[in-house]
Amino acid sequence: MNWGLKNRLNRIFSPKDGRTVMLAVDHGYFLGPVSKLEDPRKTIEPLLPYTDALMLTRGVLRNCVSDAIDVPVVLRVSGGNSIVGESLSNEGLTVSMEDAIRLNVAAVALSLYIGTEHEHQTILNLAKLVDEGEKYGIPVLAVTAVGKELDKRDVKYLSLCCRIAAEMGAHAVKTYYCDNFEKIVKSCPVPVVIAGGPKLNTELDALKLAYDAVQRGARGVDMGRNIWQSKHPVAMLKAVKAIVHDKATVKKAQQVFNSSKK
Ligand code: 5RP
Repeated sequence: MNWGLKNRLNRIFSPKDGRTVMLAVDHGYFLGPVSKLEDPRKTIEPLLPYTDALMLTRGVLRNCVSDAIDVPVVLRVSGGNSIVGESLSNEGLTVSMEDAIRLNVAAVALSLYIGTEHEHQTILNLAKLVDEGEKYGIPVLAVTAVGKELDKRDVKYLSLCCRIAAEMGAHAVKTYYCDNFEKIVKSCPVPVVIAGGPKLNTELDALKLAYDAVQRGARGVDMGRNIWQSKHPVAMLKAVKAIVHDKATVKKAQQVFNSSKK
């Protein structure tokens, strides 16, 4: 791994504990203006001080995020699908590596759709992106299992997805939490972070999810809806951060949440 690539990974995963609290706000690329992300600037700005990295598309980055920020950007560079289209898995690469570099990103991210009709093309998208990333020192985050594929959220399926992503050269993988999550981590030779998925019933549920994931080897979260669809997004992000970086228990994290609520 070259110095630049390692340095960028260290900007995302803290060299102190190897973990990250990434804020995912890329949902609009196929979902459009999802609830609480209708005005991305308004959602993102108050969360930036508590975020280790920001995952988003170039359109939102250019138009809704100040160029004075000091938060590393993980740029989503796959798309070509929509929630009302024929197939969510039909993705291609949507941003050139040159433009990603111009945007000064710390990493690029794309989705893999294992077990779908477009499995082959999304795996090749990943391989191509890794080749480009290695050329310029830009790490690649592979996102496994979204949309309908989430029905297959079990350790066998997610281990398969994560391992294939790592074998293709992804530098980190984002997946979903499931029972026996530690098996996914053990069989994936690159860092694994979890997405939060759709908003859970309570903040406590989301804190438990983050806690269980890091206890079982996740190197942090790349969480969206369970943060910014909370009535108290800043408090929620602070609480998740306490779990990921400060070894907080769920009870302690809940105290952080309660004391940070406005
Ligand atoms: C969708 C994504 C999202 O960033 C991911 O789902 C994380 O957000 P959430 O915690 O809301 O699930 O990559 O493809």
